[in-house]
Amino acid sequence: MFGKRVVDSKVSSDHASAVTKSPPENGGDTAMLNASKTAPPAKAATSKKQTITSNEGNKRSEEYYAIKTTIFNALIDTIDLSQLAQLDTDSAAEEIRDIVTEIISIKNVVMSIAEQESLLQDICNDVLGFGPLEPLLARDDISDIMVNGADAVFIEVNGKVEKTNVRFRDNGQLMNICQRIVSQVGRRVDESSPICDARLMDGSRVNVIAPPLALDGPTLTIRKFKKDKLTLDDLVKFNSITPEGAKVLGIIGASRCNVLISGGTGSGKTTLLNCMTAYIEPDERVITCEDAAELQLQQPHVVRLETRPPNLEGTGMVTMTDLVKNCLRMRPERIIVGEVRGHEAFDLLQAMNTGHDGSMGTIHANSPRESLSRLESMITMGGFGLPSRTIREMIAGSIDVVIQAARLRDGSRKITHITEVLGMEGEVIITQDIFLYEIKGEDENGNIVGQHNSTGIARPNFWDRARYYGLEGELALALDAAEA
Ligand SMILES: Nc1ncnc2c1ncn2[C@@H]1O[C@H](COP(=O)(O)OP(=O)(O)O)[C@@H](O)[C@H]1O
Ligand SMILES: [Mg+2]
Repeated sequence: MFGKRVVDSKVSSDHASAVTKSPPENGGDTAMLNASKTAPPAKAATSKKQTITSNEGNKRSEEYYAIKTTIFNALIDTIDLSQLAQLDTDSAAEEIRDIVTEIISIKNVVMSIAEQESLLQDICNDVLGFGPLEPLLARDDISDIMVNGADAVFIEVNGKVEKTNVRFRDNGQLMNICQRIVSQVGRRVDESSPICDARLMDGSRVNVIAPPLALDGPTLTIRKFKKDKLTLDDLVKFNSITPEGAKVLGIIGASRCNVLISGGTGSGKTTLLNCMTAYIEPDERVITCEDAAELQLQQPHVVRLETRPPNLEGTGMVTMTDLVKNCLRMRPERIIVGEVRGHEAFDLLQAMNTGHDGSMGTIHANSPRESLSRLESMITMGGFGLPSRTIREMIAGSIDVVIQAARLRDGSRKITHITEVLGMEGEVIITQDIFLYEIKGEDENGNIVGQHNSTGIARPNFWDRARYYGLEGELALALDAAEA
């Protein structure tokens, strides 16, 4: 193979001197397309995965980008982009490969097979997809991609944020890609509307904020959609919770407690909510309301609803409050709200209070107590004119359990609290921790060492609920085991 390459490059350089005389610029489109057929690219090596690894490994030089720009420009001169758009992705990629291979030989560029392969992949990504983002999007181990202008691309892998070698040609290219992403969902991002949320075909959530609001160039944040959602068993495997703790969570889900999952950004709230829904019975009618559909319920009787941002004219917005309100007219048995962040808190609590037991939602807060006060302020700001005591009573009467998720400083994610809401005492809501994660220190690698402990509560408040569903035996076992 390598021997052949030496011969090849020699042949093509000879060949090049003859061909460069007649540049492909003027009307050479089809001639080029046909000619290129004689130089079939090495298809066996075109697997995406392979290029990805090579992409990361070698830090790209300025030279590489210069060559790429030259070849890219020659390609744009050669091909008819509108014609290319008519082809399906695979054929279009093949067409581009053929032409680029030809251009490389005509321009007499010296490149190893691996470099050529990675250049080909890069160019295909630029023309057909999301450019330098493609290799990152193809990786399943990445949970977030953060682009802060053309030269700074960060990713989160295994809970740790790291800088990548990926870069964009310039902010113009980055902006074009942002535009391409948001136009897929019928939106637009530019100086006059510089903030935009969108979603990729695979379900990944995207946020774009462009200059002049973002000072260092277009800023893009992608929360990658995980096809294989983590299960409660996975969380046990990752030491996010003990087996006994997981058992208790399962019982909380199955015995239809109203649950609030609290945590910071990326702490694993949605993942945990998804895990909890696994304990919903198949015959229950469940309605989910989300800003961007992420939950993957396995039950047969699920209605999924999604909010809608305003359109280009600024109308047609459907808020979470609209969805939750509407939900109540749909005869739900359980209502699941992806993230409670505004007035919908009131409607969700109403629902929890009026026979939709087992409803769940997530909320952005750093402790169970804080989550309850956030809930209170959301309702206060909703302008319902309710005295704070009434709101607290409503909260205490609706929420049964708060589960706290956290992303610790070593990147690990833990369930740090399982806390019950007991009721009111005077003006305050009384809570009781059932499970706590206690941080003991750090090991030599900087990983946090800690332990999940039951707090010794043998009869939690939801005991009667568990008994109603025939689960009190299991609950007692799990709590006993956690104490030992
Ligand atoms: N316990 C966990 N252990 C390891 N990774 C987790 C855990 N929980 C969630 N993740 C991962 O962390 C990322 C963020 O999780 P997500 O549930 O979307 O967070 P949030 O909804 O709090 O923003 C996802 O990629 C998810 O797969
Ligand atoms: Mg979330």
